[in-house]
Formats: sequence, C-alpha cells, structure tokens
Amino acid sequence: MNEEFTPRPEDHFTFGLWTVGNPGRDPFGHEVRPQLDPVESVHRLAELGAYGVNFHDDDLVPPGSSAAERDAIVARFRAALDQTGLRVPMATTNLFSRPVFKDGAFTANDPEVRRFALRKTFRAIDLGAELGAETYVMWGGREGVEADAAKDARVALDRYKEAVDLCCEHIRDRGHGLRIALEPKPNEPRGDLFLPTVGHALAFINELEWPDMVGLNPEFAHETMSGLSFHHGVAQALWHDKLFHIDLNAQRIGKFDQDFRFGSEGIRDAFYTVRLLEDAGWEGMRHFDAHPYRTEDPEGVWDFARGCMRSYLILKAKAERMRSDPEIQAALRAAQADRLAEPTGTLAEIRASSPDEPTLATQGYAHERLDQLVTELLMGVR
Ligand code: GCO
Ligand code: MN
Ligand code: MN
Repeated sequence: MNEEFTPRPEDHFTFGLWTVGNPGRDPFGHEVRPQLDPVESVHRLAELGAYGVNFHDDDLVPPGSSAAERDAIVARFRAALDQTGLRVPMATTNLFSRPVFKDGAFTANDPEVRRFALRKTFRAIDLGAELGAETYVMWGGREGVEADAAKDARVALDRYKEAVDLCCEHIRDRGHGLRIALEPKPNEPRGDLFLPTVGHALAFINELEWPDMVGLNPEFAHETMSGLSFHHGVAQALWHDKLFHIDLNAQRIGKFDQDFRFGSEGIRDAFYTVRLLEDAGWEGMRHFDAHPYRTEDPEGVWDFARGCMRSYLILKAKAERMRSDPEIQAALRAAQADRLAEPTGTLAEIRASSPDEPTLATQGYAHERLDQLVTELLMGVR
C-alpha cells in the first residue's frame, strides 16, 4: 500500500459507531454480522488512523439501561478513548428506530410523543457534551409523512422550529459549547421527509430563534437521491458559513439511500467535493456515514473503513495535482475560470459599459478540453 494514502489522525477522519457497527440488516434480510462492541470499534478505528468516532445515544447506551449501567458503559467507552486518543467530535440521537416515533418525533401529531423525543434529545446532547462533542447532528429520520391528509406541512414546520429552538435553549442553559447541524434527506424511511434538501434547511435556519447556533450536515447520498449535485450543495452551505459537519458516502441517483463506501460511486462529485473542502480550508471533520456491503464478514468491515479514508486521500492528492498540472492550468485560463472572481462593476460602470455581443457570442470556453484533462487525471493516466 502506498504510504502517502495511509490515514493519520490529523486528516480528521471520523466514523459513526452505527457505520462500522452496521450488522447488515435491510428491509428484506436479517443481520449478517454479529453486534460490534463500541470499545472494539474505538480500537480498530484508532489502529486504522481515524481521528474520532461519533454515535447516536442508543448506539452506545442500549435503550432501557439503568443509570448505573449507563455510567458503567460510558466509563468503559471513555477509557478506550483515553487509551487510543480517539475523540468524539459529534453526537446525535436515534429518533427513528423505536415504535413510539412512527408518526415522527419533533413533528409527531401527539404532543406527548414530541415531549418524549425532546427529553431523549436533551439527554443525548448532555451525553455528547460529556464526551467532548462540539457538534450535535439532527437528522429527522421520521419527520415526514405518507398520508398528507394527516399532517399539515406548515404546522409541522412550526413544531420543527419549536423543537430546534428548545434544543438550542437547552444547550445554552446547560452552558454546552455545542452547535447543531441539520441533516437534510428527501425521503426514506418516510414517503416524504421535511427539510428534504440543503436549500430547504438553509432557508429554515433563518426562521430560528438562535440561527447562529444552527448549520448543516449535508450528506452525499441524500442530495444525490434528489438528483442534485452534492458538491454544489456543500459549496452553498460553505458560502453561507453553514457547513458545520459533513456525511461522506456514495450513492447513485434514483435509488434507495445506499450509504456506500465513499468514492465507490459518483467519483466525479466525490472529487469535486474533496477539492472544495480542501480549497476552502474547511476545518471540520471528514465524517463517513456509510455502511459496509452486506456481503462482508467482520473483517470486511475494516476494508470498508480503510477504503473510505484512502479514497478521500487519493482524491485530495488528485486535487493537488490538478493545481500543479500546467496543461490543466492552461485549460482553466482558457475557460476564464479565474475571471469569475472579478466583480462585475458598479451600477454606474455597468450602465456606462458597452459589451460587444457578437464578439462575446463567438468566443469558446474550451470546456471539452478541460473536462477531458480532469477526467484523465481521475482515470489515472496523468
Ligand atoms: C440515514 C442518515 C443517518 C444519520 C444519522 C445521524 O439516512 O440513515 O444518514 O445515518 O446521518 O442518524 O443522525
Ligand atoms: Mn444516508
Ligand atoms: Mn447521514
């Protein structure tokens, strides 16, 4: 294996306990791998060069645990973190698995269900803060509906806002340093989910009580399910200063949420995403929210984890190579790529200008040449 592509903690790669620990259950089949001890995941991820591990409350502390059991589980997990140096940069809540959430959590019609969901979330926020998390991810897995007659989408958004505001209030009241990252998804498991895309979530944040505390956790698979460019979604989140976290994986358009190993599908969008994050000097975590194929035995899980990180590092090297490749740089100049940064002018300047349409209309931008060069770079012949 090429040393250059060996992950190191400073690369800031993180995985969810639910990713490497995914037992391979799907709507048609049972688990194919035994349950993985979170402490083993910590050790294996640290050995592979990851920086951190994230979890849903229930991934670490099984539902129904007593207070004493919870404390013992957390102490044992913390000891593994201390021993390996692995960090917990993000925490989240499972608001989707249990039957109580069948009509939603924060947007459930029954206020008792909403109060139950919020109390569970407050506990998960406290647990994350206890382990040093700086980001709290909010994915509304059941916040949606199939029977539109049953739920007024505008009122559901009132309740969604209320819940996010209450979580912010809880964080402030407890003095935690956490920020919330909303994760959009168009559908699955609900027929339609609220906050379906990056754009919907960005607009929603403007209506919140503490908009500065809330940003986004865009996911490659979720934007791709909608047929959108993930890299453009991430770019817009960055542009608004709202990229708080990111879920990297792989997905083909028009399919169920595949959550594949990063780089395994959509290699071009993956490349432009990596290039964007690196060019932007983004300081957040490179988090993988993906699952090993169901074909894998317990060892295959670590091939999956290694593959996610290795593909990121290879694409990062390709982005660097793109920057130093003279032919690609010349093609970029032909495309006038650098000129997009030139401001267009003041109102007076534009009124006084006289752009010559026939000349402008005949110029070429050489995108064919540029794109072929980048394609060849990705195909490994440059
Ligand atoms: C999914 C989601 C989840 C969330 C996770 C964090 O489609 O299953 O991507 O994996 O990211 O629940 O809240
Ligand atoms: Mn997903
Ligand atoms: Mn996700």
